[in-house]
Amino acid sequence: MGNTNKYVVIKYDKELYVRLQDYGARHLPEEEQKKVMKIQNAFLPKEERDFIKQEWVASGRVQFLAKLPQETHREFLATYIPENIKNLLEVGCAQGMYLELYTKLRPEIDFTGLDQNINLVKTAVGRGFNVIEGDMHDMPFEDNSFDCIMSCDVFEHSMDPNKLLGECRRIVREDGWLVFAVPPDARVPAAWWNNPEHCWKTDMPDVYRRLEKAGFEIEHMIEYSLSQFSRAHPPSGGCEILFIARPKKLARPKK
Ligand SMILES: C[S@@+](CC[C@H](N)C(=O)[O-])C[C@H]1O[C@@H](n2cnc3c(N)ncnc32)[C@H](O)[C@@H]1O
Repeated sequence: MGNTNKYVVIKYDKELYVRLQDYGARHLPEEEQKKVMKIQNAFLPKEERDFIKQEWVASGRVQFLAKLPQETHREFLATYIPENIKNLLEVGCAQGMYLELYTKLRPEIDFTGLDQNINLVKTAVGRGFNVIEGDMHDMPFEDNSFDCIMSCDVFEHSMDPNKLLGECRRIVREDGWLVFAVPPDARVPAAWWNNPEHCWKTDMPDVYRRLEKAGFEIEHMIEYSLSQFSRAHPPSGGCEILFIARPKKLARPKK
């Protein structure tokens, strides 16, 4: 996972958000980025500020990113597909837009998709992907089936996140990976974040604790801005949190 993104921004006030949209985060002058970063740090809710330890930030275990070199959200997430894996499950793959890119970038990996929407599953299958209809809370796979589980903008739809993460733990291999992105909906009670389809309103500490409870250890947490990818997010939001976790082990050999 050789990700070379720069650390920049986490949250914006309204004016700066609009400017980011106008310019695109990647074209923001360096001075402006510093200003945004200062404001954003001040905006982080106290509970999360207390939770995020400075040493985690210093060691890169927690990163705040805005100026991403990738052109699309999918390309950004693809940089987190682990090296040396044989198979990967994408949970909530919809019609296979991520699978399309992933299979191009990593043809050596055997990809499977899962989605509960049969119409999307049919479309994905019609496009040549191995996609199965199913509920992520009760996945139709054997224990220890996958080297990696990835998911983007899906887990927040869960009505039972503990069960979901427990299911992920069951089907991922001991040496495997769980990589997923969700919006930090618990932070901002504005319209976008009140999306009723987002049953699990969460944030960094909440995901962290639930992952630990489900038997994962968290290697890396990244908060990043979506502003460069899309104009659809309102000033209150526009960011996403990404978790890279592995099954907890008493001793994992260093690679
Ligand atoms: C917001 S879309 C995200 C699709 C895709 N991952 C992306 O980022 O473009 C959420 C997807 O999760 C699927 N989904 C929601 N709840 C699910 C569940 N319980 N089990 C399986 N899939 C689910 C939906 O059918 C939908 O395709």
